[in-house]
Amino acid sequence: MPALSRRDFARLLTLTTSAALLPKRAFAELPLDDWGLVDAPLPPTPLEPDEKFWQEVRSRFLLPPDLGFINAANLCPTSLPVVEALERNTRQYDANPSNAVRAQLTQGREEARRLLAAALRVTPEEIVITRNTSEANNLVSSGLQLGHDDDVLLFSDNHPSNLNAWREKAKRFGFGVTVVLQVSPHPGTDYYVDAFSKAITPRTRVLGVTHVSSNSGDMFPVAELCRLAHERGVMSLVDGAQSFGVLDVDLSTMRPDFYSGSAHKWPCGPKETGLLYVNREVHDRIWPSVISLYAGAVGISQKLEANGQRDDAALAALAEALKFQGAIGRAVIERRARQLAQHMIERLKQLDGVTMWTPSDPTRSAAIVIFRPGALDPRRLGAALLEKDRIVCTTRAGADRPGLRFSPHFYNTMDEVDRAVDSIRRYMATGV
Ligand SMILES: Cc1ncc(COP(=O)(O)O)c(C=O)c1O
Repeated sequence: MPALSRRDFARLLTLTTSAALLPKRAFAELPLDDWGLVDAPLPPTPLEPDEKFWQEVRSRFLLPPDLGFINAANLCPTSLPVVEALERNTRQYDANPSNAVRAQLTQGREEARRLLAAALRVTPEEIVITRNTSEANNLVSSGLQLGHDDDVLLFSDNHPSNLNAWREKAKRFGFGVTVVLQVSPHPGTDYYVDAFSKAITPRTRVLGVTHVSSNSGDMFPVAELCRLAHERGVMSLVDGAQSFGVLDVDLSTMRPDFYSGSAHKWPCGPKETGLLYVNREVHDRIWPSVISLYAGAVGISQKLEANGQRDDAALAALAEALKFQGAIGRAVIERRARQLAQHMIERLKQLDGVTMWTPSDPTRSAAIVIFRPGALDPRRLGAALLEKDRIVCTTRAGADRPGLRFSPHFYNTMDEVDRAVDSIRRYMATGV
């Protein structure tokens, strides 16, 4: 397989935001040609993908080999084909700033819409390409006509783009907000279905929940909650920021009214790309929040995606990210990320003093692992892992489930996960 030349690679590094994140040491100590970045299509996914195959996947990312980036829940790197598509699309317009090239890039955006719809088993007419999950959630909370006779039923473990956004708009528009509390440890599907069922009243119009929590790693029974909402004549909003691009999400069986996601997280798409799925049954119930030109071509995007001029090069490159994951297989990616997370949980549980916040039961968690490393200060431990061990994770300070959050993904190797646990074990024995 051809590795990139030093010149090609240096050129690519100047074109990607990842370059800004690369530590100086990596530039200084690693000969660029030895990074093993591969500019060739991936081999077909084997029936039983082994570490060799995942190493192939890893070699399509600009991540230096000594960097254990286990932080997908925050923001993901894009693969080389996406970096190249971003460059190609940008050059195409900047070398020929014409309506013809813009029209071509707009076709790329529509291809991304078709691929988003196919990945989620819905139709392109139901997809809005947003900047991120925050914008998608806010399109719903700003776009529904709600007032003094209405209530919204939310989950306490929703992200601020959901929970705080609804609360703020409740003050402005006069609707009520009821919150169902998260219970830790995860009490299971029946508990939550029962809790939401009891909290629905004749005034309830919307039920807003998160698929996978970035605060606990808990996965919630969203299909059951959407069914409950549907039976009771309530609209459902599922926040999929921590599920799209890692779980093989099938909206045709989940059947939410709205599902939001960020393509710059687990799908490894260009930054500032995301989506809002709007079930065709509720297209006539949502108003646009931004009204301008350059709407999407089909369905609900004609109403909710007229945001004025955007980065068409990035929107078109989103198609490349979706193809990259699609070629590997979404079910295969889910299995891999879960395998890495399960391995990490099992090993961490064996360390004296570790408190696991994330359940290991695969029906209650996905690929986010949160735990307290004994008495160690999470911030100091996180900093030591980054500076001394070249491991990237998120730290959680404060009283609510403090500790470290790891979120392994399909570009991580088993070695990286083991290296992270070994380092934590060492710090727990010796201090930071
Ligand atoms: C559950 C959830 N929803 C929404 C968001 C917001 O994502 P973004 O910043 O891409 O809008 C996050 C970010 O971590 C999240 O975890």
